[in-house]
Amino acid sequence: MLTQKSTIPSISLKYHHSCNGVLHLFSFETPILYLFKINKIKYIFSIMDLTRIKFIKESKLEDLQNSNYLEDLIIKLGFNTEILREQPKIVKDNGGGLLIWQYPNQFSKYLCLLREQNIKSYIEIGCRWGGTFVLTNEYLKMFNSINKSVAIDIIDSPVVNYCISNNETQFIKINSQSKEFINYINNNYFDLIFIDGDHSYRGVKNDYEISKNSGKIFVFHDIINDVCPGVVQFWNELKNNEKNTYNFFEFTEQYKDVWNDTRQKFLGIGVAIKK
Ligand SMILES: C[S@@+](CC[C@H](N)C(=O)[O-])C[C@H]1O[C@@H](n2cnc3c(N)ncnc32)[C@H](O)[C@@H]1O
Repeated sequence: MLTQKSTIPSISLKYHHSCNGVLHLFSFETPILYLFKINKIKYIFSIMDLTRIKFIKESKLEDLQNSNYLEDLIIKLGFNTEILREQPKIVKDNGGGLLIWQYPNQFSKYLCLLREQNIKSYIEIGCRWGGTFVLTNEYLKMFNSINKSVAIDIIDSPVVNYCISNNETQFIKINSQSKEFINYINNNYFDLIFIDGDHSYRGVKNDYEISKNSGKIFVFHDIINDVCPGVVQFWNELKNNEKNTYNFFEFTEQYKDVWNDTRQKFLGIGVAIKK
């Protein structure tokens, strides 16, 4: 399971057998994934629109080094709008496309930092629909060749459709807390490890502890998120306890409309780069 590349066809994902002969189309878990049945087989497909990758590929390299340009580009690529309460109007109005789950004002500046790090391998723990994974991989490929990019999640992800046509990439459906994954991460090395899976304190600590000897740059999502106290606590501890090991960077800009509506802070990207 760990090494096998998915052979799932390009827009649909064979799910499992059912005993229903008619086609049903209905929302599954979120409006982003759909489940349908043809004869005895269930399929999942998503509305992830990979054609938008062309906006990255058609950009000039000098523009891709400019965070203002990147902010506009991320908006054009399209967002995951699952948790609307956390989303600013700019995200809500641009749902769809690559289904990226990020604030463009944070992620644009984060990408600018990554560009300077000569990253050749990437793993995202908790990729969900894969928007952040696709954007990160495509952005890095504009500057360096990427040897290996791996997306993992405990659920099926439409990112398999992207992985099929990009040889350096792989989606693995696996629990990051399983023995199989510990074995996998112990036997692999990644320049960039993005931790965005289980957001409990125990979960994020597990993902860091099992991978800390297998990477150079560790990224934590939701470091100031008021609804992810475990990640906030873990990030603050890492900053206090590992000052000699890492240089730390934070991208935590908020949107006024979200703050006005909720009086809470969301997302936030923390980067720890080994000295
Ligand atoms: C916030 S979402 C990730 C969003 C994604 N990184 C993005 O930017 O679009 C968290 C994901 O982590 C996955 N997850 C939670 N616990 C996990 C675990 N133990 N192992 C692997 N994935 C996990 C969930 O299924 C979910 O899809």
